[in-house]
Parts: sequence; C-alpha cells; structure tokens
Amino acid sequence: MINFKPVNNDAVEALMAIENACHSHPWTLKTMSSCFGGRYFNLAAFDGDILVGFYIGEKAGPDFTLMDICVTPEHQGKGIAKQLLSKFIEHGEQQNAENLFLEVRESNTRAIKLYEQAGFIEMSVRKNYYPSDDATKNGFEDAILMGMALSLGFM
Ligand SMILES: CC(C)(COP(=O)(O)OP(=O)(O)OC[C@H]1O[C@@H](n2cnc3c(N)ncnc32)[C@H](O)[C@@H]1OP(=O)(O)O)[C@@H](O)C(=O)NCCC(=O)NCCS
Repeated sequence: MINFKPVNNDAVEALMAIENACHSHPWTLKTMSSCFGGRYFNLAAFDGDILVGFYIGEKAGPDFTLMDICVTPEHQGKGIAKQLLSKFIEHGEQQNAENLFLEVRESNTRAIKLYEQAGFIEMSVRKNYYPSDDATKNGFEDAILMGMALSLGFM
C-alpha cells in the first residue's frame, strides 16, 4: 500500500535518485535543495519505507504551480502520479488557491494525458523553453503551459 506524507531536506538524496531516473534533463541537487520551506510545498509517496514518487509545488499568492512530479520507473503505471496530482489539487482547494499551473514538455504525452484527465487545460506555449537532445530539434523544446481555475480567478 502506498502512503503519502510531506518530506524535508533530509529526503533530498532520495528525491534526486528519482529525479535522475525520470528526467532527461533533471534538476540539480542545488535546485532540488532550494525547494523546501518558504513558498514551496511537497508530498512524497512511500511504498513501505521506500520513497517512490513525489510532487513539488510552489505557492505565489492565489496561484499554485506544480513544479515537478515524478514516480520511480519501477512504480509507474500504478496510479501513483494520479493520486499525487489529485492531492496537489486538494491542497490548492484547501489553501484557497484560485489557479493551478504547470509546464510540460510538448513531447511528454504521458504527463499531458495525466494532467488532462485531472482537468488541466492547455493555456499557451512557451517556445524553445526546455533544452532537448532530440536530433530533429534545434537543441530546445517547447513547453505547454497548462492551468486549472479553482475559483473565479484570473483564468
Ligand atoms: C508522468 C508520470 C509522473 C506518470 O506517473 P505514473 O505513476 O506512471 O502515472 P499513473 O499510473 O498515475 O497514470 C496516470 C495517468 O497517466 C497517463 N499514463 C500513465 N502511464 C502512461 C503510459 N504508459 N502511456 C500513456 N499515458 C500514461 C494516463 O493518463 C494515466 O491514466 P490512466 O491509467 O487512467 O489512463 C511518470 O511517468 C513520470 O515520473 N515520468 C517522468 C517525469 C515526468 O515526466 N514528470 C512530469 C513532468 S511535467
């Protein structure tokens, strides 16, 4: 059974192990370490004592952004990201967020489907936002900006 709880900087190495296993261009340890406390919040998924997934969110007034969401490859496809995302949305609702935002690589169809199923919609495109190793691209990849209005906010 998967349990969920927030983590602090003590878990940064475990988060980085998942980050490195999941992303073509992972965050650095410095970036990950900067995402604890203050305007940041997170939730981690545990299989027993083992950290198998997480999200990191950022609060800016009424706007909450999903900065990162990852599930370790061995645990993907079991609904863990769906639960993490629904808990991110619940957290926003409980904290009176008006809008939820996220950015995703245009090629990340798996994540885009996850977000669409949860109710996020495409809002705009940030051209050449991410670095890319795809030989058919110019070294960069577009980001899709997605959002969800929780109340009568800006959207
Ligand atoms: C995207 C990611 C977080 C999904 O995690 P997961 O735990 O495997 O996802 P879930 O099992 O909860 O699946 C939720 C939904 O994601 C989509 N999805 C998951 N696996 C998929 C696959 N192999 N192909 C297509 N869609 C898939 C589906 O919409 C699925 O819902 P469904 O099963 O009802 O169709 C995971 O693949 C991951 O960590 N990827 C690398 C990091 C990343 O890209 N993060 C997003 C950055 S914006």
